[in-house]
Amino acid sequence: MGTGRARIAASILDADHANLGYAVKRAERAGADRIHIDVMDGHFVPNLTFGHKMIEGIRKRTKLPLDAHLMISEPGRFIEKYIDAGCDSITFHVEIDEPIAPTLEKIRAAGRAAGLAVKPKTPLTALEPYRLLLDIVLVMTVEPGFGGQTFMRDVAQEKLLAAREYLSHKLHGAEVHVDGGVNRETAEFVGGLGVDILVIGSALWIKGHDMGREIRLVKALADDGYQYRLNQGRPPIPRDKMVRFAQLPREAAWKFMAEIEAGGIPVLALRGSGQFNPDGSQDYDLMVPATVEAITIERFGETRERYRAESDRWREAYAAEHGWTAPPKR
Ligand code: DX5
Ligand code: ZN
Repeated sequence: MGTGRARIAASILDADHANLGYAVKRAERAGADRIHIDVMDGHFVPNLTFGHKMIEGIRKRTKLPLDAHLMISEPGRFIEKYIDAGCDSITFHVEIDEPIAPTLEKIRAAGRAAGLAVKPKTPLTALEPYRLLLDIVLVMTVEPGFGGQTFMRDVAQEKLLAAREYLSHKLHGAEVHVDGGVNRETAEFVGGLGVDILVIGSALWIKGHDMGREIRLVKALADDGYQYRLNQGRPPIPRDKMVRFAQLPREAAWKFMAEIEAGGIPVLALRGSGQFNPDGSQDYDLMVPATVEAITIERFGETRERYRAESDRWREAYAAEHGWTAPPKR
């Protein structure tokens, strides 16, 4: 997964369509973080690609998350099919002529990430009505339809940082994707604009090129851009790094976890290195993403003290009543 911040979604649009199973395996081995699947209907864009059946097949060939980018006029009509095909995220275009909110709601209800894409000429303000339903904003830096086009720098400059605004309701996990013309020439620039996911198509499938090297290079350049433009020269915190926020006995840990998650911060409870309790059980570690550690401390630091004190009292009372049970041997 790598230690940096930027993540690469490999677009298979320019791979050999007769051999897509092999293409995703190759991208996975080369270090891609996910697979970007460009679905085109020959109507919304002047090109035709693959559908949900193909995604179903791809799903069996890779463990990587699948991001569907639907360039189709009627995503609402087919959305269940794409959900059932096993997409981890589904992004469709805000420029379509049908209701958008119900489709976003269906994607989210299925537990997948929901996104809207904007063509180069579409202003970001088109996303305004759907703000709270978005997990992903995909900014197109070429006209949708084909791989291998030239990156539109002015569009990236105008929209990439601003796109984050539309995701400000999400403390963690929100993603800005940049799609079109991303390669080693443009990666540092988009990284400096805080983009989370770089979609890379044609640059990965050049004959005779080492795909792994391409991916490592693009990631490193994007992180460098971020570090020097947006992060005051500090190395970025990896998006998927978790840190320990609290250690508590099971019941307290479960209650506290629910409280924190209700505040929009994802929590992992691990049977980790916590102390043993008088009933023989071991404290759980509550882990939160490192990127929101400071916010978690700010919001839940006092509550954590309360839970600690409460747990100490419980331990004392339990020990006074039942004595200590030896911890189970591992
Ligand atoms: C274009 C697609 C892109 C395409 C990008 O409509 O949305 O995902 O694969 O290809 P490159 O990286 O070559 O611009
Ligand atoms: Zn795409």
